[in-house]
Amino acid sequence: MRMEQTGHGRLRDRFGRAITDLRLSVTDRCNYKCVYCRTGNEGAQYTELATGDYLRMVRIMVSLGIEKVRLTGGEPLLRSGLVEMVHELSTLRTAFLSDGTATDSGLPIDLALTTNGHLLEPLAAPLMEAGLKRITVSMDAVEPETFAAITRVPRSFERVLAGVRKATAVGFGPVKINCVLLRGFNDHQIEAFAEFSRREGVIVRFIEFMPLEEDRSWRSETVIRMDELVARLNHFRPLVELPQHSASETARRFTFDDGVGEIGIIAPVSRPFCGHCSRIRITSDGKLRTCLFSQSDHDLYGRMFRGGTDQELAAYIRSVVFQKEERHHIGEPGFEKPLRNMVHIGG
Ligand code: GTP
Ligand code: 5AD
Repeated sequence: MRMEQTGHGRLRDRFGRAITDLRLSVTDRCNYKCVYCRTGNEGAQYTELATGDYLRMVRIMVSLGIEKVRLTGGEPLLRSGLVEMVHELSTLRTAFLSDGTATDSGLPIDLALTTNGHLLEPLAAPLMEAGLKRITVSMDAVEPETFAAITRVPRSFERVLAGVRKATAVGFGPVKINCVLLRGFNDHQIEAFAEFSRREGVIVRFIEFMPLEEDRSWRSETVIRMDELVARLNHFRPLVELPQHSASETARRFTFDDGVGEIGIIAPVSRPFCGHCSRIRITSDGKLRTCLFSQSDHDLYGRMFRGGTDQELAAYIRSVVFQKEERHHIGEPGFEKPLRNMVHIGG
């Protein structure tokens, strides 16, 4: 099928990186107050667009060569109409781009979701039926007390565990588990997470803590860096590195010497992967964000609201993507934390 013509060739930035991966934040509400993300204060304003507005943005993005769409938040399962939105997105086909003409390739987009898992158990089957392909669950401990201390929500662990198991049972396996490691909070859980991966058949991905939290608590000493983590895991049981799926993959992948379990290590602080970044974000208020650490966003929704045509919006997206930052500067002198936090941006 011929698609609306929206420009020339695949989205690229000025460093030649092809942008194929979109994260769409469908709400900035969250039912958790994780210590590495939120202040714990209630009552913040939140912004969500109408489903149709997000769908139009994604459709234009896909016509420009986006192949992977990850729904994020806030907490995306709080968003009403999410299952219907997934159903609509699952009908999108990646674009085959040549001579400025976009043709539907017939291949479905890779549609994924990152959730805290609290509301996942009843939604796993409907999401699978609606056409979602993959689920990542954020889970920062595998025992209830530490989990509740991090999320600041009592009895949260049992619900998330039930959600992970249900997602696996309905066919999302292997589910990915994201764990942000914080020295003094959950670093005693590293070995237990390795056992959890081996026992539950999930992929556990440890993430270095980045300065994207509301209360500016980030300290270099709090970060558990990849080298220290690898040493700890090797002590638990020898690691064996697995090949990466693609150059832009965020995680280095490992299994253990007996081939049981899979561990990913995402090291944006000690080993930044900006050189291979293929990502662009749309915030819940409809702004384009070219990097997690951007100091400003680009108002795509504003242009839509004022009556921009698909061609005009596509041209705008191209010009914004072209300006994508070369890299982030975490830990360097003069680093400035962005004004917006992870809860707005959608990790
Ligand atoms: P798939 O490869 O699609 O499974 O997903 P992914 O590896 O991109 O994983 P996910 O979206 O779960 O991202 C994992 C984590 O990597 C996020 O939670 C962030 O902590 C980190 N991350 C993702 N994108 C970026 C980015 O653009 N810059 C930096 N510095 N970190 C990122
Ligand atoms: N540093 C690293 N990862 C983070 N996430 C949220 N905040 C941070 C941070 N400051 C991760 C969460 C979730 C994903 C959306 O981003 O664990 O899995």
